[in-house]
Amino acid sequence: MISKTMENALNTQISLEGYASFLYLSMASWCDKEGLQGCAAFMHRQSDEERQHMLRIFHYISEVDGHALAPAIAQPPHSFESVHKLFEQVYAHEQKVTASINELLSLAYKDNDHTTLNFLQWYVTEQREEEALMRGILDRIKLIGDGPMSLYYIDKEMEKINKAELAAEAAESAA
Ligand code: FEO
Repeated sequence: MISKTMENALNTQISLEGYASFLYLSMASWCDKEGLQGCAAFMHRQSDEERQHMLRIFHYISEVDGHALAPAIAQPPHSFESVHKLFEQVYAHEQKVTASINELLSLAYKDNDHTTLNFLQWYVTEQREEEALMRGILDRIKLIGDGPMSLYYIDKEMEKINKAELAAEAAESAA
């Protein structure tokens, strides 16, 4: 059984992960419209992952006898200034999620809630990886440049990242 405060905080995190899923879905749609297939495939996968992050908390709350709430999701933006700006927004959102996970950990420490502390460790690792991935993408975009002539090369880089991510996922599920 978790405290009401912890339950509320986890439900807020559900909302944040759910928003990330729809924000990234909206970004996938914009990338598709701009003819950036590699970027669109990447954002679709990120959107699916965020839904899984949301559901993982959802199931956890039920498992510890709390009440998980399906969130109301605000309309995410549907157009973006450039690919560079889009990934800057992704990185900023991931940093926000990391800060929120850290707050959940502080709350769990305060509550002496070792079950939730243990549960949240997965998110600590995930956020470290996601932030590193997004920083890496931003570094590549800075190197390539994001003018009209560079978009093709950025998209090719995203296709390479997609292939590497899929291979890593396959290796993980085979282990
Ligand atoms: Fe689930 Fe990328 O935050």
